[in-house]
Amino acid sequence: MKRRTAMEKASPHVLIFPFPLHGHINSMLILADLLCLAGIHVTFLNTDHTHHRLLRSNPDLLVDRPGLRFRSISDGLPLDQPRPIDRITDLFVSLRSATKPLLRAMLAGSGGGLGSDDPVTCVVADGLLSFAIDVADEVGIPIFIFRTASPCSFWTFFCGPALAAGGEIPFEEDDMDRLIIGVPGMEAFLRRRDLPSLFRVKELSDLNLQFILTEAQDATRASCVILNTFEDLDGPILSHIRAHCPTTYAIGPLDALLKCRLTESNDFTPTSISLRTEDRTCLTWLNSQPDKSVLYISFGSAAVATQEQLLEFWHGVVNSQTRFLWVMRPDVVDRMGQIPAELREATDERGRLVGWAPQVDVLAHSAVGGFLTHCGWNSTLESVSAGVPMICWPFFVDQQTNSRYVEEVWKVGLDMKDRCDRRTVEMMIRELMEGKREELVKSTARFADLAKRSVSQGGSSYMSFEKLVENIRSMCQRAHPDGGK
Ligand code: UDX
Repeated sequence: MKRRTAMEKASPHVLIFPFPLHGHINSMLILADLLCLAGIHVTFLNTDHTHHRLLRSNPDLLVDRPGLRFRSISDGLPLDQPRPIDRITDLFVSLRSATKPLLRAMLAGSGGGLGSDDPVTCVVADGLLSFAIDVADEVGIPIFIFRTASPCSFWTFFCGPALAAGGEIPFEEDDMDRLIIGVPGMEAFLRRRDLPSLFRVKELSDLNLQFILTEAQDATRASCVILNTFEDLDGPILSHIRAHCPTTYAIGPLDALLKCRLTESNDFTPTSISLRTEDRTCLTWLNSQPDKSVLYISFGSAAVATQEQLLEFWHGVVNSQTRFLWVMRPDVVDRMGQIPAELREATDERGRLVGWAPQVDVLAHSAVGGFLTHCGWNSTLESVSAGVPMICWPFFVDQQTNSRYVEEVWKVGLDMKDRCDRRTVEMMIRELMEGKREELVKSTARFADLAKRSVSQGGSSYMSFEKLVENIRSMCQRAHPDGGK
């Protein structure tokens, strides 16, 4: 086929490049669907390692379709090398050194490297892949940054240099309740223990901390920033972020926005790919449970608990006498020995374990009355959106800050961070499902309603997405002013 010249090509074509972690791929894929629905061509770029995992679990779903195609790129590590979360530094380093030149070659090849004659007119890169900003600048393509984690954590990372200058980091872990005053907007409630886990280091020179602080500052070099949140939830933080990144689009909750936009279109099937296989039988089990009686438990896609922690949780859940649906990923615990008989019996009686659940559908189910979560940003927002109050047990990165917001700012749940003995677990579950239920449900229902309004026609996220699309189109227009005519 004859390749068109650059001046002949005028339709917007966005390259979306997520960081290779489940929560990032998930939300960027929803963005891909949203852009496709808006008539914009998308190439979704996974790392080879992720691409192969996806092919193994859903071979049919990575097939190109009109408007959306999947491509992959090396992350520089051997394909068969495991990429455990506690060795994430290897991935950061390798992506920056090995993937950067490959991406440059891909983008500089007028789309040739992507196996298409359609040049990329805009890149949307994950907020942890800021090397893509250098590449896009070099080849003259506008770049937007999508920070898939919470805005409150983004703002905290952004303020990292000020925290260091003010002597607030690093800190000894002896007084974790001391307030942090160097993050504007959070002076009244942010304690040391609520800072993202990456701040819990002995030395400022810690590689992961330096990496994440630099990535946050780098967002200012992009044309705009995209966030998965909505104005009524994160307005104050968004104002702070916009003082540094003036064009910041808040277009969340993304899954709710997609649902809303799908109702406006007759012939679009959303892309449904997952790194794990969902067990949908738990929905049938939920059908037979009383209204609001079930506690849904999930620690997301990457967190790994110790055997002791998991067993303390299990005892606490069982002792609370509540019904529960628990996502027990095969890799959620470092090693699992014998499970005490009383736990197995109680689980058979009033619980259900699955390897991976259709979480959004579970949270929307009338039988679910609470969510014990690790407070990953997608889970937090999905729970807010569904109006389900939470107990938060954060593991790492943004989760410590998210859980503080859940309890102290939005008042949609309880924060259990840094504790997980069976008595605390039991007590918190009783508070969530009974004692504090009324006040928590009231606040959660209010935010669920605001979330719904934000993604409905004319709502803040709906309009913000319209502006994002307009921006993508105008960038393409500026690059190809003759419109390909
Ligand atoms: C973590 C984060 O804390 C997140 O904020 C950061 O951006 C990336 O790393 P993760 O552990 O994947 O992410 O949690 P989360 O952001 O909550 O995403 C998990 C996703 O998997 C959610 O969209 C959830 O609906 C989905 N999920 C989880 C399922 O579909 N089924 C399950 O059984 C569990």
